[in-house]
Amino acid sequence: MTTDAFKIAPSILSADFTRLGAEIADVLDAGADFLHLDIMDGHFVPNISFGPAITAAARAAAPGCHLDAHLMISEPLRYAPELIAAGADSITFHIEVAPDPADMAKRLRDLGCRVGITLNPATPVETILPALDLVDLVLVMSVVPGFSGQKFMPEVLDKCRFLKSRLRPDQHLEIDGGINPDTIRQAADAGCDWFVCASAIFGPPDRRAALTALRRRLGAS
Ligand code: DX5
Ligand code: ZN
Repeated sequence: MTTDAFKIAPSILSADFTRLGAEIADVLDAGADFLHLDIMDGHFVPNISFGPAITAAARAAAPGCHLDAHLMISEPLRYAPELIAAGADSITFHIEVAPDPADMAKRLRDLGCRVGITLNPATPVETILPALDLVDLVLVMSVVPGFSGQKFMPEVLDKCRFLKSRLRPDQHLEIDGGINPDTIRQAADAGCDWFVCASAIFGPPDRRAALTALRRRLGAS
């Protein structure tokens, strides 16, 4: 895989929300490829983050940017239309809330967005296979979702390798949780091409340096 294919997506979950527009401008100016929106409902995960209003604010702050919405919520179909109207380009749902993942993927696509499927670290990879042909991306969770700043779980790398062998070239393998300069290379070697980072990018004051450190580990300058 060429290094151009690797994309790094800051998750605004770790941004300073008192100055969200400036935070978004800062990471995009520093070379981030697109933005990841971690949407949590306090039900599927033990945390509440944000929803359509902040999604619309991100869209306004970054008009041409791909907005990658990760729905850690129990009812993706209930809120997807509003999130898409607010500016989300892709909607990623959790297999743990989708008894019929193929149907969920089709229904989301009918709303006019790109579609992703994701699974928690403890969820067997076989569960998502019925929807694999119907999604644009698979997101492998490398922490138990709910909070940024957790430790990367290397045991999910076997899932990545398995999925990489099954995905078409036009489908993306994204990884989320604990990605930093010490872990990003392992994820790339396991087949991932999209990398979500919250604390590793928004934590340090110099976001350009943070992105450069990540890209160096991917073999890019
Ligand atoms: C998990 C979220 C992640 C998380 C990433 O709850 O889906 O996007 O915030 O945070 P870091 O990069 O700090 O592990
Ligand atoms: Zn996420």
